[in-house]
Amino acid sequence: MPVSDQFKIPVTNLPEPQQENPVIFEKSDELSSGSTADQTLGQIVAKDAGKAEIFNRYGLDFCCGGKKTLKEACIEKGLDTAKIEQELQQVNRSFFIHDLPYNDWKPGFLADFIVNTHHSYVKRTLPEIKNLALKVMTAHGKSHPELLMIMQLVEDIYTEMFSHMIKEEEILFPFIKQLDAAVEFQSMKSPLFDTIQSPISMMEAEHEYVGKSLEEIRKLSNNYYLPGDACASYSLLYQMLTEFESDLHTHIHLENNILFPKALQMEKTVMDNTGSLPV
Ligand SMILES: [Fe+2]
Ligand SMILES: [Fe+2]
Repeated sequence: MPVSDQFKIPVTNLPEPQQENPVIFEKSDELSSGSTADQTLGQIVAKDAGKAEIFNRYGLDFCCGGKKTLKEACIEKGLDTAKIEQELQQVNRSFFIHDLPYNDWKPGFLADFIVNTHHSYVKRTLPEIKNLALKVMTAHGKSHPELLMIMQLVEDIYTEMFSHMIKEEEILFPFIKQLDAAVEFQSMKSPLFDTIQSPISMMEAEHEYVGKSLEEIRKLSNNYYLPGDACASYSLLYQMLTEFESDLHTHIHLENNILFPKALQMEKTVMDNTGSLPV
């Protein structure tokens, strides 16, 4: 059963994301201290998002599996850690959206950014992917039976993602903004949770569920390999799923490896200063 079934919220009246003024920050430090092999995949990408390209190339999961060190992840995949370290050092740092200094933004601003870019992308593309999966399965399901399973997984991802984003937009992210304000102004409205760890753990479990479903689709489609009889819709479906997977990796990375650890740190700061979450 999808994790979201334990935490249902009606899919109506999504709040308009609020935009704060961006803050200009210095660029993050390069990987400077300690061996890269002993840093987690999440830490490496949080410091330099350009490195995600290398991890994607070797199937190293930096979002849901971002808590593993580079060494652990390489051993698990049978990869040469030293070779991967060398490639990480040679990443061409041409400027791209992935180079934005996410790590330096205030958590409230990062939450708005995630809603305005990644949530908005999911809301725009996932309904189209769902319709395409049905269309392609109907036309080619007899000769390619894996399409039925792919369609079911897409429907599952659709249900899970829309419910998940509502929980983030209506409950978790507003609370992160309250913490942001509490750290800055030493005041806070009634907290929604005893600790933010519980909703964060739930969001991480849901990320893992969707990540695994996409991995399953990749396996079923033989790495999105198009058969000779594939029509334009078949090709478009696989192209959109590939892009969706790539966007989701960045989306989950920003939440699991940057936003959530910062929120937990803010909660600790507020608790240390007041002995409890201020009301
Ligand atoms: Fe999200
Ligand atoms: Fe999320």
